[in-house]
Amino acid sequence: MRLAGARALVTGASSGIGAATALELSARGARLVLSGRDEEALAGVAARTGGEALPADLSPGAPEGTPDGVADLAARAGPVDLLVACAGEGWSGPFTRMPCGTADRLVAVNLTAHVRLTRLLLPGMAERGRGHLVYVASIAGVVGVREEAVYAATKAGLLAFAESLRYELPPVKGNGIGVTTVVPGVVDTAFFARRGRPYTRRRPAPVPPERVARAIAVAVERGRAEVFVPAWLRLPARLHGAAPSAFRILARRFGRP
Ligand SMILES: NC(=O)c1ccc[n+]([C@@H]2O[C@H](COP(=O)([O-])OP(=O)(O)OC[C@H]3O[C@@H](n4cnc5c(N)ncnc54)[C@H](OP(=O)(O)O)[C@@H]3O)[C@@H](O)[C@H]2O)c1
Repeated sequence: MRLAGARALVTGASSGIGAATALELSARGARLVLSGRDEEALAGVAARTGGEALPADLSPGAPEGTPDGVADLAARAGPVDLLVACAGEGWSGPFTRMPCGTADRLVAVNLTAHVRLTRLLLPGMAERGRGHLVYVASIAGVVGVREEAVYAATKAGLLAFAESLRYELPPVKGNGIGVTTVVPGVVDTAFFARRGRPYTRRRPAPVPPERVARAIAVAVERGRAEVFVPAWLRLPARLHGAAPSAFRILARRFGRP
């Protein structure tokens, strides 16, 4: 997809990877619709990109009768050529200590909200014969991560959703609707502090969010189905697929927090 002139909705645009992606897309000529909760941060990104800020909370729990954050966002965004589904929250710790409400919330924000947003935006893309969907997943969703079971499950869900959707969409040659899954490893953002457990390992070293943003823009322009950031992450992903038992032995040995 040509980014110049495309109308792009970025969720999670107020911070980290989403904010960097908004800046990257804007530098390539996209017209932006920016979603997040932090109105001040969102306004800052809007000012730098010329984008339109549409604050929205994608978690459920609003009392009955009040506007639904996802439906309201889709309606206010209008026709969108590109969706970058980036908003997400984490939680780390032993699963049996995870509050049930937190588990529900992670599933709702990371997975359900973006499934619903896609359901609301895709018919317009199909009608116009043009569109691209980008899902920011995680290596956790490919190989699983100790003490991140629910987070990993939401990201695995996004990957399976995107993979399945691809079969239903018309081929991308010429006009069509593309689907890209983005699989970052550790990215230097507020994500870890916000989930309540900072990232303290030396390896793998965190990559800057701008690197993920560039990979997203290139993947959209070139119609790539899947990108790993950094690219070497493809190796553990392939090892996990080809030799899961060997992978588990290595992960138990080296994967302690
Ligand atoms: N950082 C990493 O190492 C890493 C690795 C792999 C994948 N990822 C994924 O990358 C995505 C972006 O994360 P990040 O690293 O950029 O973290 P971040 O800086 O914490 O950004 C998270 C974004 O999601 C938004 N968000 C969270 N909960 C929301 C809710 N209920 N409603 C609406 N928006 C909500 C936040 O909005 P507000 O700030 O306005 O609340 C913020 O814009 C996430 O999906 C994350 O799972 C991150």
